[in-house]
Amino acid sequence: MNLWDRLQETVQAIRKEVPEAPQVGVILGTGLGGLGEKIQAARPIPYETIPHFTRSTVEGHKGQLVFGRIGQKRVVVMEGRFHFYEGYTAAEVTYPVRVMRALGAQVLIASNAAGGMNPAFAAGDLMVIADQINLMGVNPLIGPNDERLGVRFPDMSAPYDEKLIRLSERIAAEASIRLHRGVYVAVAGPNLETRAEYRFLRGIGADAVGMSTVPEVLAAVHGGMRVMGVSCITDLCIPETLKAASLEEILKVAGEAEPKLTHLVSKVIERL
Ligand code: HPA
Repeated sequence: MNLWDRLQETVQAIRKEVPEAPQVGVILGTGLGGLGEKIQAARPIPYETIPHFTRSTVEGHKGQLVFGRIGQKRVVVMEGRFHFYEGYTAAEVTYPVRVMRALGAQVLIASNAAGGMNPAFAAGDLMVIADQINLMGVNPLIGPNDERLGVRFPDMSAPYDEKLIRLSERIAAEASIRLHRGVYVAVAGPNLETRAEYRFLRGIGADAVGMSTVPEVLAAVHGGMRVMGVSCITDLCIPETLKAASLEEILKVAGEAEPKLTHLVSKVIERL
């Protein structure tokens, strides 16, 4: 069955449970799940009960779509995203975004944990993504193109919506949240980068590096969504002073910064 037909079946099944179309789709990044608690009248649907939906093959990974409201906006929030490094294909990683779009969401907000390469950044800072570089080695748009989903050669002159960037900057300023604006580069992972790779990635113009978001944003832009991305800078990746990274430390910093991200994203949604 082709992608379009699978999407129709997925959408039909979800609409039986939640008839109202969501306006905004949100993807919560590693250690950044707190927004889930802000959803009013929350209606969770586990991934494994949704026809054709990408399944968690990773042991102990739970995932669900949560429908509900933030302020006056109807949202659908992905709790648990799929990463290329886990073994999912680019098509599987981006299927949930296709579903959000097919359900009616016009806006995608994606968050992630990322390594900061800009020396002006500090661990725990947030960065609104102004542009991206795809170094993952895959692209979810490869293959036959279905014109009903988007054009063959989607424009990428402005993948991240400038109005949403400005709105996030206003909200951050009002709440005294440090918010940088920068370029996010995606690599496949799962290893963290070498010093030589950080030097290279900084040299090609990236401010933060991570292992997600870019495929989902490519699918969202292909589908005509307005996109906002926010990185939580969990560790500094400066080649000259690089120390051994610890996943524990990365998750700890993400957890500490998470309330800022939740505030920022929920206010952006309310004021869209
Ligand atoms: N690379 C380096 N540091 C990180 C990453 C990454 O992909 N994600 C979070 N911290």
